[in-house]
Amino acid sequence: MFELSPDFFAVAYLIATILFIYGLKGLSSPRTALRGNGSAMLGMALAVGVTLMSPEVKSYTWVFAGLGAGAVVGTALALRISMTAMPQLVAALHSFVGLSAVLVAAGTFLAHREAQKLDMTSMIELGVGSAIGAITFTGSLVAFGKLQEILKSNPLIFKGQHFVNLVLALSMLGLGVHFTVTSDLMSFLGMTGIAMVLGLLLVLPIGGADMPVVVSMLNSYSGWAASATGFILGNQLLITTGALVGSSGAILSYIMCKAMNRSIVSVIFGGMGTTDAQASAGSQAANKGVKSASVEDVGFLLENSSKIIIVPGYGMAVAQAQHAVKELVDVLQEKGVEVKFAIHPVAGRMPGHMNVLLAESDIPYDCVFEMEEVNSDFSAADVCLVIGANDVVNPAAKSDKTSPLYGMPILDAYKAKQIFVSKRSMKAGYAGVDNALFYYPNCSLVFGDAKSTCEAIVAAIKGA
Ligand code: TAP
Repeated sequence: MFELSPDFFAVAYLIATILFIYGLKGLSSPRTALRGNGSAMLGMALAVGVTLMSPEVKSYTWVFAGLGAGAVVGTALALRISMTAMPQLVAALHSFVGLSAVLVAAGTFLAHREAQKLDMTSMIELGVGSAIGAITFTGSLVAFGKLQEILKSNPLIFKGQHFVNLVLALSMLGLGVHFTVTSDLMSFLGMTGIAMVLGLLLVLPIGGADMPVVVSMLNSYSGWAASATGFILGNQLLITTGALVGSSGAILSYIMCKAMNRSIVSVIFGGMGTTDAQASAGSQAANKGVKSASVEDVGFLLENSSKIIIVPGYGMAVAQAQHAVKELVDVLQEKGVEVKFAIHPVAGRMPGHMNVLLAESDIPYDCVFEMEEVNSDFSAADVCLVIGANDVVNPAAKSDKTSPLYGMPILDAYKAKQIFVSKRSMKAGYAGVDNALFYYPNCSLVFGDAKSTCEAIVAAIKGA
């Protein structure tokens, strides 16, 4: 059989990398996201296809068994998973990347240990790959547990946590150095075990509204773990792809940290969003009164407004209310009302969650504004309609130093002349804290499922 030249692989991998970069660029805007996804898929098909032609692949049995099993599980999961559960799926996938980095490092080490074929550089690659992989693996499992609500989303903190983390990090480093110098199996296992404990301890103290930053940070870690695996296997494509995921995840984490006014250092070392204010929030709520409004009241005020701002949140995704919201927008625009959407960077449960839903229901992009573009418009809005959003409009983030949300920039919904909030109950949002907005004199709650509420408002306006 003829053998393909190394140049063939290098060129094919280069084309795949370009397609990935083009894909990432496309994903930076909802307008081009579909094209971006297509390009990334093409790149991945090329990467997998070309890798299968590599002379290093001696037998296809295990490769196809793995691909087949992965494809069956992946397809079943992707078909069953709802849009709102996407972040936990992503967290679970990150944990697989982490685990595979550990397994590749362990496999390579065990296969070559006896023959002493591993030089110092390879040993460093193995150590780094396994340590990052192990942290990513357990950290992502905790993130999955919290997002899936198997674990409490509250921060889990104990006294001396940072000191324990420091001791563990230094022990991991020490064992890692010992491993690279001596090729000692026990040091390898010890280092990997400690890294796994560290992964748990870094994510457990993070709770509530800060989870998105952690998920994107773990995304970045999984990229670096894949890149380290690429060095171990001598595969350039894995190195560049891992670096692309690692750096884009790091950039996203930085953007999110900035948007949420959090320090990136505290995300990396764990323990942000840690206050004991949550327990007291519920009891405070019970002592205050809230006003409720009927869909007829809302419809009347909306159609008699000149400017309204809609703030969508996680509840809109749960209710799948985006099509009903579009219908509401159409009815209002027909009546000459100016409608804008205000999108908070962490609204929903994944980056761009609201943009995807609004695009799905054909809401024009020129009505949709990011937080910094639209925040100054709230004071001129006649009505702000909050649909299933909670934490992202909580004014306690500005004023209550004991709130876990304190410091996170919010959408200034409270500045509108009138605010209506569509939600089902007085339950808190993701951060688990009471919302000060609900008690503002210009705020009324419209209780009920967001989709039914929007449909009823449309009916009320049409019937009027
Ligand atoms: P949340 O603060 O989570 O509030 C969502 C609200 O929707 C809840 O108060 C809930 O109240 C309501 N709701 C749920 N189902 C509903 C339905 N069928 N109809 C109407 N309302 C419904 O949402 P948000 O304001 O979008 O904030 C997002 C939060 O998630 C932030 O804390 C953010 O940090 C966190 N987070 C974000 C991400 C990303 S990357 N975006 C990832 C993980 C976590 P009821 O139960 O009373 O209806």
